[in-house]
Amino acid sequence: MRYLRNTWYVAALDIEVGREMLSRMILGEAVMLYRKLDGTAVAVIDRCPHRFAPLSMGKLIGNNVQCGYHGLQFDCSGKCVVNPHGDGKIPRAAQVKSFPLVERYGMLWIWMGDADLADAELIPAYYSHFDSPDWKTVRGHSFQEANYQLIADNLLDLSHDQFLHANYHRKDAFLTTPHEVFVDGTAVVSRRQVLNSIASDAFAGNLPDPKLLVDQWKIMRWEAPGYFLLDLGVRPSNDPQAPGLCKRNAHILTPATETSTNYYFINARNYQRDDEKVDAQIREWQRIGFGEQDKPMIEAIQRGMGKQDLFDLNPILLSVDGAAVRARRHLEKLLKAQDEHEMQATLAQSAITHA
Ligand code: FES
Ligand SMILES: [Fe+2]
Repeated sequence: MRYLRNTWYVAALDIEVGREMLSRMILGEAVMLYRKLDGTAVAVIDRCPHRFAPLSMGKLIGNNVQCGYHGLQFDCSGKCVVNPHGDGKIPRAAQVKSFPLVERYGMLWIWMGDADLADAELIPAYYSHFDSPDWKTVRGHSFQEANYQLIADNLLDLSHDQFLHANYHRKDAFLTTPHEVFVDGTAVVSRRQVLNSIASDAFAGNLPDPKLLVDQWKIMRWEAPGYFLLDLGVRPSNDPQAPGLCKRNAHILTPATETSTNYYFINARNYQRDDEKVDAQIREWQRIGFGEQDKPMIEAIQRGMGKQDLFDLNPILLSVDGAAVRARRHLEKLLKAQDEHEMQATLAQSAITHA
């Protein structure tokens, strides 16, 4: 499986990682995450180089990990520092790979490619509002047995709302509104706007008067490899300067394997920030909408497709597929550029070897 390597992926939400070791599959590799005594999070391969036991089945001793099988200890850079056997000499190959890891916007970002290129400034700053007290966040993680691009297709075509999530979208003005799809720099954007209408179900219950006429928008922005920002909101039609009720949600996909994905979702809102009832509604939507409606559908599609590529199966294309198709093409272009770059590097290396 080809993955974009020189880019940041979300390895976990910050709250998922503490002094218990967490094992997570990322781009086909088992990675283990934990926090050092000073709270800094680290990531190393979850496989002991002796008999390949998962290190996450061992225990933390201070900042080191002790393998649960025969007791080798590794520091947080992955270097073996204690061998409790024989003369205690440490074999030179007793080292596990560690990865650059940055904690930002409530997430732990991992760089699985060339560590020299890991630049924290490349972490998308459009998630910075998660750190602001002006926004209240409700966050979750779901492991899904489907390729990340199938989940991306789902997020880029919200026309499925009226069928798969019909119970949540009974009188939604967006259902009959065509979406504009366009490319903005390196992003693919799908935008729907409706003026002068009753608010959709997602906001109607949060307005002082659900019959108020509002302008509303729903804008999904995708960037490779799997960063989504869903900006949606309503504003009274007679008050275009009002800040309105807004949500700015992240959906972030990190491939686990070719046919599975770690899916992180962060719902951020600028209204009723202290209202736990609203938090509970959002959690309920994440549990039912994502967990009981999207997930089983996408996983069933994956089982049916096996390892075949979507386009090799000649899917019929509908008007609603524009954003998903563009995102897939853009990702393919980036993967081809990466293949090309790797081939050039291999050729250069073999020229040096044969010189
Ligand atoms: S498998 Fe880890 S020390 Fe033996
Ligand atoms: Fe959905």
